[in-house]
Amino acid sequence: MRHAYFPSGSLVVTVLAAALLSLAARVPYSSLENRANSTFLSCLEHAGLDPVVQGEAAYATDSAPFNLRFKYKPAAIVYPKDAAGVAAAVKCGAAHGVKVNARGGGHSYAAFALGGEDGHLTVSLDNLRHLSVSGDTATIGGGNHLGDVALYLWQHGKRALAHGTCPYVGIGGHAGQGGFGIPSRLWGLLADQITSIELVTASGSILPASPSRNADLFWAAMGAGASVGIITQFTAATHKAVDSVAFSYSFANYGAKEASRGLLAWQRFASDPGRPLDAELGLQLHVNPGSTPSGISFSVSGSYYNADIAKLNATMAPLLTELGRPTATTMQTQDWITSVLYYAGAQNLNGLNTTLAPDVHDHFYATSTFVSEHAPLGKPSADALMQYFYGLGTKTNVGWFIIFDLYGGPKSAIRRRNADFNAFDARDALYSIQYYGSFPSNVADATGIAFIQGMKGALERNQPHTVFKEYVNYIDSTYSADVAHRKYYPTHTARLTEIKNKYDPHRVFHYPQDF
Ligand SMILES: Cc1cc2nc3c(=O)[nH]c(=O)nc-3n(C[C@H](O)[C@H](O)[C@H](O)COP(=O)(O)OP(=O)(O)OC[C@H]3O[C@@H](n4cnc5c(N)ncnc54)[C@H](O)[C@@H]3O)c2cc1C
Ligand SMILES: *[C@@H]1O[C@H](CO)[C@@H](O)[C@H](O)[C@H]1NC(C)=O
Ligand SMILES: *[C@@H]1O[C@H](CO)[C@@H](O)[C@H](O)[C@H]1NC(C)=O
Ligand SMILES: *[C@@H]1O[C@H](CO)[C@@H](O)[C@H](O)[C@H]1NC(C)=O
Repeated sequence: MRHAYFPSGSLVVTVLAAALLSLAARVPYSSLENRANSTFLSCLEHAGLDPVVQGEAAYATDSAPFNLRFKYKPAAIVYPKDAAGVAAAVKCGAAHGVKVNARGGGHSYAAFALGGEDGHLTVSLDNLRHLSVSGDTATIGGGNHLGDVALYLWQHGKRALAHGTCPYVGIGGHAGQGGFGIPSRLWGLLADQITSIELVTASGSILPASPSRNADLFWAAMGAGASVGIITQFTAATHKAVDSVAFSYSFANYGAKEASRGLLAWQRFASDPGRPLDAELGLQLHVNPGSTPSGISFSVSGSYYNADIAKLNATMAPLLTELGRPTATTMQTQDWITSVLYYAGAQNLNGLNTTLAPDVHDHFYATSTFVSEHAPLGKPSADALMQYFYGLGTKTNVGWFIIFDLYGGPKSAIRRRNADFNAFDARDALYSIQYYGSFPSNVADATGIAFIQGMKGALERNQPHTVFKEYVNYIDSTYSADVAHRKYYPTHTARLTEIKNKYDPHRVFHYPQDF
């Protein structure tokens, strides 16, 4: 799509015309001296894959990740039209020792769709964007973005799935690594709503996978998808789209002390066994710089599905008793797609159609913590966290924000799944904390990363006996494979390694944190 304006290899031929005029037209690449490389590119070329390589005009845009902190140089980027094309690309990579990575929406925080180092083959799934729905079953091409999926499902029978908020995030990385959204306590992670997939393995086989066929692959792909293959198609069990009340309560008068008390009250409210929260309640807590007396904004927000304002008020009353009177409150009854637009920050339905406007980029680092039901945050760690936010957080040029997302509680659909339901390894999570920082040009990467890591460090130092898991979709670019596996898959590492050994013994699908 993006490089359709020049036919196979022609630009390279033009650029190198002087040097290559005497050579056959089939071997136009600059790396002729490197036979292996040139055979690799010819392999792609012969498969009709029209590789985009360095030196072509499209290369800079086609290889630009969402996170501009990374500038990896793939050996080639291809845009297959179907699963057979994906398989052909994988075979070329495998045959020539070039590591292969799928690119869905390209939103990996660590640019892992580019392999996390130079010289990989990136298989973009941009042309695998078919969508169909039949009854409650949706068939979703592996290259779709969440906004297009939500829009299509809404427009074809008012169907819906629980997934994240950003329209440009790809279903490939999102469902492949879990996929949390505000309705996930009601319906589960996006991965939990997938009933089968089609996947290209390292040997170039195109396999169906589900709980009843190639069950080990399906299990691994729903949580550790990037490591096991390239998912070319998802089948999902959709839900009837539901209305909700979106709400937010802000506390502009808080300082660090009140914020720590507020966080602990929010945590108790979320986990109180005597008053289990409905699965219909999606609940967040946000802390970020804001125009308040302290310079920091603290707010509790979310959406209550299938509920009205009276029910919201009654449910939230015990929490508000502890938080005090909000300085601002918003409540809005929304139909399903209005709620999707609201979280996307989109103005109208076109804002969900990712083919109509280009994606934006950021220059950032993010990392995460899962707080579990059995080891909630204590007062020392809550205090340390809020002192950091209300202290150092007001003195930095890093553009940071923190989101606490409620996962658990006994009624939550995430929690109700078995711990080993799929490769996602944090069914015991009560909530996630995402620490995110964008770095303006006057903040060096190392400085910005240290600032964000300091937040998590403040929490962990004050709770040294708790082993915190983390969320793989907020993938931490600084982790080695060992650390990543410990944080993201503490109890699933052995089984995932076994499945990786079975399907990808030569690590064709390699990146710094694969199995
Ligand atoms: C603005 C923004 C908002 C976000 N909001 C949320 C949120 O609300 N909830 C949440 O859970 N997460 C959220 N995320 C994180 C997001 O879920 C992950 O970054 C996700 O992995 C991105 O998927 P992608 O396909 O866009 O990325 P990519 O970079 O294309 O892929 C990510 C990883 O998955 C692999 N991969 C991609 N497609 C496939 C495939 N088809 N088969 C196999 N492997 C594949 C890639 O090789 C790479 O390793 C957000 C991210 C951003 C940038
Ligand atoms: C292969 O060729 C490309 C394009 O000319 C070049 O950028 C890349 O570095 C080469 N890779 C190897 C492994 O030699
Ligand atoms: C997005 O817009 C394009 C161009 O108008 C259209 O072909 C496509 O069907 C739209 N996608 C969705 C999901 O509505
Ligand atoms: C809900 O609470 C808000 C204040 O938080 C109040 O303004 C509103 O009238 C209440 N609505 C109902 C239906 O209880």
